[in-house]
Amino acid sequence: MSIYEGLSADKLAVVLDLGARYTKFGFIGEFAPRCIIPSEIKCPSSGKIRYIYSYTDENDLYSLLVEFVHMLFFKHVLVTPKDRHVVIVESLLCPTLFRDTLAKVLYRHFEVASILFVPSHLVALCTLGVKTALVIDVGYEEVQIIPVYEGVPILKAWQAQPLAAKAIEARLRNNFINAYNNMKNAAGDCGDTDTFAEDVSELPDSVIEDIKVRGCFVTTMERSEMISKSEPVKEPPPLKYRIKGDKLILIPGICRETAFEVLFERDNDTNSIQDLVLKSILECGIDTRKQLAENLFLVGGTVMAPGFKSRFMREVKALLHSPEYCDRLPLNTVKLHNPPAKDNYTCWLGGAIFGATDMLQMRSLSREKYLSLNTVPDWSNLAHNELVISKLPT
Ligand SMILES: Nc1ncnc2c1ncn2[C@@H]1O[C@H](COP(=O)(O)OP(=O)(O)OP(=O)(O)O)[C@@H](O)[C@H]1O
Ligand SMILES: [Mg+2]
Repeated sequence: MSIYEGLSADKLAVVLDLGARYTKFGFIGEFAPRCIIPSEIKCPSSGKIRYIYSYTDENDLYSLLVEFVHMLFFKHVLVTPKDRHVVIVESLLCPTLFRDTLAKVLYRHFEVASILFVPSHLVALCTLGVKTALVIDVGYEEVQIIPVYEGVPILKAWQAQPLAAKAIEARLRNNFINAYNNMKNAAGDCGDTDTFAEDVSELPDSVIEDIKVRGCFVTTMERSEMISKSEPVKEPPPLKYRIKGDKLILIPGICRETAFEVLFERDNDTNSIQDLVLKSILECGIDTRKQLAENLFLVGGTVMAPGFKSRFMREVKALLHSPEYCDRLPLNTVKLHNPPAKDNYTCWLGGAIFGATDMLQMRSLSREKYLSLNTVPDWSNLAHNELVISKLPT
């Protein structure tokens, strides 16, 4: 890219989607990010590997971001950030401190030409070419649901709960420790101790994540009901997983099958993922509900798990026909969109498509403007929500 870039007058803009677990980074107009890397960096002060979102205060975040953005530009895409246009795909629920600090790092430290902040739920629709959808982002920290109607996010209907990869991994670790203790005793009796060479409670997060992605799946609704009622079911085969090159641990079939159940379990507050979807639709205007239900759009890495989408649709349909919702939400059809890319970078792709339009020139915040304002306009701040009335020629 950098070779051809020297020939053209304009520098190609970059697109950054800085997620809680993975960062997607690449150029506008391309069909996939150049890199998808963990959002972590070696801390300049302590030398430890730290997640970007584990910051303690603004200064800490600033130094983490300086290192991280430097690595993105100079190790992964090999172009200079100076005088470059940047598109940032961010959640509408992103903390203001994070957004302001990221802007400060890019404008003041790396001297980028301009930044265009785009809401991830909204630009994800650019990949489909539709204006209305209920966007359900199941990433790492939480599931975030925001309906978009005719290109406008309906903010009063947003829903968010910590029901995503982090909760699944915590459940997997928990189930695994319980099952492991039972298995260890049983193996001790029959002398097969080699299989359980490692204490599972000390497995690092990255290993638990790898076990989840390679070994776990979302089970069917029928089997889930049987397991929750402790009815006898045929267990899936266990998985032998190698750690540290030479040690084997055995992942029981039941752990592989039940880790994702945490998303669909209905607790006392009925905050399962299917409840949140229907609650969000109910919060929207009555004339928009049918269209939203027929345009569900799942994005985020967690929805890539085998069986996730079919289970999700079964749960939503079953809840829709339950006595709790059938009167309040009399809808017959629920449909799901199929994105043209992998689910974990659909929002990034939306940003890459949006950034390739004239909107980049029209809506970006230039460095000069930022330096005079010393802040980034924010939808949540009333000071920036002034009505702009263009003066008509007299
Ligand atoms: N094929 C897969 N099966 C199951 N999980 C997967 C798969 N691929 C990725 N994941 C999980 O998706 C999660 C990351 O998803 P994503 O990239 O959408 O999160 P994020 O954008 O970093 O987080 P957030 O949106 O909460 O800020 C990781 O926990 C990863 O383990
Ligand atoms: Mg994300």
